[in-house]
Amino acid sequence: MIIHTERLVLRPLTLTDAPDIQRLAGEREVAATTRDIEHPYEKGMAERWVESCRRQSEAGELVHFAITLAADGTFMGAITLHLDLAENGQPGSPKQAELSYWVGKPFWNQGYATEALQAVLDHAFHRLGFDRVYAAHFTRNPSSGRVMQKAGMLPEGFLKGHTEKWGSFEDLALYGVTREQFLSG
Ligand SMILES: CC(C)(COP(=O)(O)OP(=O)(O)OC[C@H]1O[C@@H](n2cnc3c(N)ncnc32)[C@H](O)[C@@H]1OP(=O)(O)O)[C@@H](O)C(=O)NCCC(=O)NCCS
Repeated sequence: MIIHTERLVLRPLTLTDAPDIQRLAGEREVAATTRDIEHPYEKGMAERWVESCRRQSEAGELVHFAITLAADGTFMGAITLHLDLAENGQPGSPKQAELSYWVGKPFWNQGYATEALQAVLDHAFHRLGFDRVYAAHFTRNPSSGRVMQKAGMLPEGFLKGHTEKWGSFEDLALYGVTREQFLSG
């Protein structure tokens, strides 16, 4: 699935993205505010991540996109929806997913994450039939909260010291949006 926006093309991640992923996700500032990206980001990790996205996608567990510039195809980051599955391995009811995203540092503060997130939410509700999408950000990372707000997600709560990152227990701000909220927003 490929999504076109005004400035972006969102397309599935491929192994040819691995060098860009290693370079951009390898920056400490990108890893520092995510729950999953390790640092240092060693050789082979990008390939393993793309492969695991592909496998999970085939199993119906993940929807993944590279965030690229429409003008010249420049790879800038990634955005994923991780489905909540029921015990039988099928999407749960409500059908919902946790969102994750990152954009490489050279591309920050130009509205790219917001544009990508708006398009992915639209896709999730209009094309994939999701009932709810949710996400969390470290409270020390307000720019991610801005992205969620600008894309139409709503604050849902706060978890104190919920996630360990590099030896600290991080506070999380929770955001979500239901289909009804998104369509009426
Ligand atoms: C968070 C991240 C995705 C934002 O990407 P981006 O493309 O720069 O986002 P946008 O340009 O669409 O929007 C950024 C917003 O945050 C605001 N912002 C930037 N720094 C800020 C700060 N320190 N405090 C408050 N707001 C801030 C910007 O002004 C902008 O809001 P505005 O349009 O209202 O002015 C990017 O910084 C990133 O990938 N960081 C590392 C990984 C990460 O944190 N991922 C999210 C995990 S939840």
